[in-house]
Amino acid sequence: MGKIKIAIVGVGNCASSLVQGLEFYKNSPEEKVIGLMHYDIGGYKVEDVEVVAAFDIDKRKVGQPLNEAIFARPNCAKIFCSVIPKNGVIVKMGNVLDGIASHMKSYSQERAFVVADELSCDVVAELKNSGAEILVNYLPVGSEQASRFYVQACLDAGVALVNCIPVFIASDQNWKIKFVEKGLPVVGDDIKAQVGATITHRALTKMFNDRGVKLERTYQLNTGGNTDFLNMLERCRLNSKKNSKTEAVQSQLGKPLDSQNIHIGPSDYVPWQKDNKVCFIRMEGRGFGDIAMNLELRLSVEDSPNSAGVVIDAIRCCKLALDRKISGPLISVSAFTMKHPPVQYPDYKAKKMMEEFIAGNLES
Ligand SMILES: NC(=O)c1ccc[n+]([C@@H]2O[C@H](COP(=O)([O-])OP(=O)(O)OC[C@H]3O[C@@H](n4cnc5c(N)ncnc54)[C@H](O)[C@@H]3O)[C@@H](O)[C@H]2O)c1
Repeated sequence: MGKIKIAIVGVGNCASSLVQGLEFYKNSPEEKVIGLMHYDIGGYKVEDVEVVAAFDIDKRKVGQPLNEAIFARPNCAKIFCSVIPKNGVIVKMGNVLDGIASHMKSYSQERAFVVADELSCDVVAELKNSGAEILVNYLPVGSEQASRFYVQACLDAGVALVNCIPVFIASDQNWKIKFVEKGLPVVGDDIKAQVGATITHRALTKMFNDRGVKLERTYQLNTGGNTDFLNMLERCRLNSKKNSKTEAVQSQLGKPLDSQNIHIGPSDYVPWQKDNKVCFIRMEGRGFGDIAMNLELRLSVEDSPNSAGVVIDAIRCCKLALDRKISGPLISVSAFTMKHPPVQYPDYKAKKMMEEFIAGNLES
């Protein structure tokens, strides 16, 4: 099989974990591998993914080799693979637009984004010249204009998309048509981490429903200390994030909860937590005999490797779609890997569908 050439927009913590993972899993024998859902996807292994272009806007990353930029401030993701060989990719200046929340200015440079004093490169030309086949979108939550800019660049350059953020592209009818017209696949939206808050809350909600316990009220509170959590302090950037996370849970119930009875979202920024995300879930229900019960759960994970463990499969499935000349949103792959796919399925069903897609028995 050939290589899978990807471009990355947003060289933050998630990109750092992904790039580290590409090196970490290189030449690992299958029996020794820990932490992957698939060793091989249609003939593609992790080591077949190669980053050929990267865009950011932070002065500590722009102009730097990618292997150094992933460890630059304010990134704080755990380093599980410290030596990444140079591959010639230099981070190029992107288009700032609404990528940076205004409150970031009042935080120390150690913690916040700092815009580079450079003009944006020609993103379409960079994508074309690099030979990128797939763009991975890792912009901050709330980057509506910036996402649209880079997605349009994908379409103009003939590049497929894996949209890891809650700006609705794969699940939006107008964008769907544009990707179909260009003959390009898209996987999205908003990556669902390996074992994160969403998949855990969804699985428990499905269990309540399947076992006849009426869920009456629930919350999911999340805290973290990375720039993703700092960015999300600006509440007006959160509409689509809350929508994506809430719908991911509501979709597991026969009848959705009244909006008053479900609260899901990023709840606070705790700097010393760095990339450690802590999630608190409470679920209140009524079972046999109308008897009340409740469940409390605390989940602690490293946020960025948790998402990279799923993106690595979304990328390889997207490449399979390119090979098979499939265009538009990948329904099965998005349902399994994303919080806000075009169509929601219970996770066990989405997994089965994705396996059928990989085997070539399902169109999308
Ligand atoms: N960690 C997870 O499990 C998870 C799950 C779902 C979604 N996500 C989403 O993935 C995205 C990336 O997360 P992260 O933790 O890497 O964030 P991050 O804050 O570490 O990185 C964002 C990067 O984007 C850059 N940037 C900002 N504006 C830009 C622009 N206009 N052009 C180019 N680059 C720009 C920043 O400089 C920074 O390097 C976020 O939207 C996050 O919510 C993460």
